[in-house]
Amino acid sequence: MKKLFIVANWKSNKLSNETQAWFTAFKEAQLFVDSSEKEAIVCPPFQLLHQAKELITTHQLQVSLGAQDVSPFEHGAYTGEVNAAQIKEFAEYTIIGHSERRSNFSETDDMLAKKVTQALASGLQPIFCIQNAQTAIPEGVKIVAYEPVEAIGTGQPDTPEDAAAVAQSVKQAHPGVQAVLYGGSVTPENVNGFTKEQSIDGVLVGGASLDAEKFVQMIKNS
Ligand code: PGA
Repeated sequence: MKKLFIVANWKSNKLSNETQAWFTAFKEAQLFVDSSEKEAIVCPPFQLLHQAKELITTHQLQVSLGAQDVSPFEHGAYTGEVNAAQIKEFAEYTIIGHSERRSNFSETDDMLAKKVTQALASGLQPIFCIQNAQTAIPEGVKIVAYEPVEAIGTGQPDTPEDAAAVAQSVKQAHPGVQAVLYGGSVTPENVNGFTKEQSIDGVLVGGASLDAEKFVQMIKNS
């Protein structure tokens, strides 16, 4: 039986009080899942990681934490950067190469490979975003998220069949990749169409993950 990763990407959203409310609602939704079958991963902005970790510990929630990015450098004179060892104090995962970072912050394949190297060196598991089956995937990446740009935030998801075909070809071309997720306009209503595809190992969710009840419903429906 495959394991599913259900990943929440909060992007640049939420303040402390909203984070508190989100985890309270998550707790009240009383989610019980077999962690060998499904893993929920929440990726808040950096400044909320500490608070999110405390809330997860206090409420004993079945959620892992991830960051949304990582510095391509280790510690040192890199103003404004958050390095992998700093993230690892709070989180197990980090998203790398989201299309919003590629387009808004000019992140190149070369820079993304450096980010992957830094993440792996600190024991952070990269969730590496690709936009199509041709996107370069750095050595050492085990979890990939296929996110076609036209499906992100548009309410126009890719079809499960197409996403499954991309997932399949990525796995064939990259034997080191163990899981391929789909992302782009995933909702509690359409999530199962993707996760029931044999080659798809979970979802990366933006908009619909901002509401804890919707996110829990998505985990249940997946
Ligand atoms: P969306 O975003 O679910 O809001 O389409 C997905 C993503 O960008 O990771």
